[in-house]
Amino acid sequence: MRAIETSALTKRYGETTAVDSLDLTVPEGTVYGFLGPNGSGKTTTMRMLTGLTTPTSGTATVTGVSVTNRKALRPHIGYLPEEPPLYEQATAYEQLEYIAGLRDIPQQEVQNRIDSLLDRVGLSPDDAATRIADYSKGMRQKVAYVQAVLHSPDIAFLDEPTSGLDPRAARTIREHIRELTDEGTTVFLTTHILPVVEEIADTVGILYEGRLVAEDTPEQLTRRAETGDARTLEDAFLEVTSTDPAAGASVEAEDD
Ligand SMILES: Nc1ncnc2c1ncn2[C@@H]1O[C@H](COP(=O)(O)OP(=O)(O)OP(=O)(O)O)[C@@H](O)[C@H]1O
Ligand SMILES: [Mg+2]
Repeated sequence: MRAIETSALTKRYGETTAVDSLDLTVPEGTVYGFLGPNGSGKTTTMRMLTGLTTPTSGTATVTGVSVTNRKALRPHIGYLPEEPPLYEQATAYEQLEYIAGLRDIPQQEVQNRIDSLLDRVGLSPDDAATRIADYSKGMRQKVAYVQAVLHSPDIAFLDEPTSGLDPRAARTIREHIRELTDEGTTVFLTTHILPVVEEIADTVGILYEGRLVAEDTPEQLTRRAETGDARTLEDAFLEVTSTDPAAGASVEAEDD
């Protein structure tokens, strides 16, 4: 079964077409890196795939469940939003315990899972007992990440998972994401940090003005189609997301 399948998935806000007729297929147990300039529709796509916003048209299924069936969808997915809502007055531990309760994680497993994940992302027992109101940006991001994967979801949607993290913490998260796929989890992530997808993504999709303008393995995207010469993923990104024909494969050229 496909982890994610969309057909002509579209979201309009008034005159703005945030996501324009998107066709995506993501196989189970893979990492899909979703790239694109600011405002290209990445977060909007994630919000549709997690049932948080309703598509204007088109269809999408996640683990075979229609995204319009929010109740059935919920147990299958974990979501790290762009701006994670956390309970400021709770400690990290309390926040995660609460989420574990909502997620039907067996009571005898809850403490173990929370402890080992917090330790993994570099939050100490002292940190776990600290109110989130007193957390730094990176500490919040770590708790939000743990919250998204705590119940071992079939699919983890991670919007900028390494945002605000120091290099060591960012590496830990990248490694952990790869480990999730070893356990069969599918990961759909956005990032502006191109080395992240180069390192961990099986497939990279590049969105530009709501449309998918490139999709391939990181290896293929960094190989120039005409010459086979190596280039950076940044070069590829800049080419396919440019309106300037001189920059190379512009969006218009892609349609030829
Ligand atoms: N709730 C909303 N109401 C109106 N317009 C919206 C809404 N959410 C997103 N948009 C618009 O949809 C487009 C895509 O936004 P989106 O947040 O999906 O971009 P993004 O690719 O995630 O960008 P970034 O890299 O900056 O996070 C933008 O033009 C944005 O202004
Ligand atoms: Mg976004």
